[in-house]
Amino acid sequence: MSVSKPSRASSHLRLGVNIDHVATVRNARGGRLPDPLRAARLAAAAGADGITAHLREDRRHIVDADIEGLMRELTIPLNFEMAATAEMVAIALRHCPHAACIVPEKREERTTEGGLDAAGQHNHLRPMVSRLRDAGIRVSLFIEADPRQLEAAVALGAPVVELHTGRYCELEGEAQRAELGRLQKAAALCTRLGLECHAGHGLSYADVGPVAAIPEVRELNIGHFLVGEAIFVGFEPAIREMRRVMDAARAGGGVAK
Ligand code: PXP
Repeated sequence: MSVSKPSRASSHLRLGVNIDHVATVRNARGGRLPDPLRAARLAAAAGADGITAHLREDRRHIVDADIEGLMRELTIPLNFEMAATAEMVAIALRHCPHAACIVPEKREERTTEGGLDAAGQHNHLRPMVSRLRDAGIRVSLFIEADPRQLEAAVALGAPVVELHTGRYCELEGEAQRAELGRLQKAAALCTRLGLECHAGHGLSYADVGPVAAIPEVRELNIGHFLVGEAIFVGFEPAIREMRRVMDAARAGGGVAK
């Protein structure tokens, strides 16, 4: 295990806007609208640092043409979420996005449930991580806040992990505080292990603050809540408000709402 010296956490917390559910609404009618590419452009205008899109095996939201359009037109980095399959590795290598986040994927799930078993799947993941890295793609692994999984990410040669915040968002009260503690400890361990720490899944204005305040966390990826909020206030205002809440928490101002 390579252990690097703790570095001072960056104060700028990047926001990756996940546009999957713009595609969900489009696909409900089977046409071209609403256009995820337009959402990506608006997100960039609203201050997103990157766009995240998950090309699922069943293409239930993002489809191959969306990835082509994003790669052709995006002016900010694309984080390509993908299952650890030969098909997805081939697509990633064809497009060479800025980043690829490897996520567990089950056909029957509604959304990504739980983190990747990086420890248990070492032999399956190792060649994939290497091929993506060799192509210059920044690889991250979407994992639970579990020291065993962080150490496995190091063993796999992944430079980045994204901590799954789904459970933290679902819990309340003391149980939520305990889960936040696990996220904080995992983020601190990332720094000791030389891993860049990201976080995401299920975040909203109500719960993003404490995660944004974790100094080692460098990037949050947020989608479903923003697309839902856009129905009421518009996509750009929703993203700007998320940015404001994140920045206030980062600056120590708590969850300013
Ligand atoms: N990060 C990862 C790895 C994900 O799989 C997802 C959901 O696609 C997100 C972040 C965003 O989650 P949400 O849409 O709940 O904000």
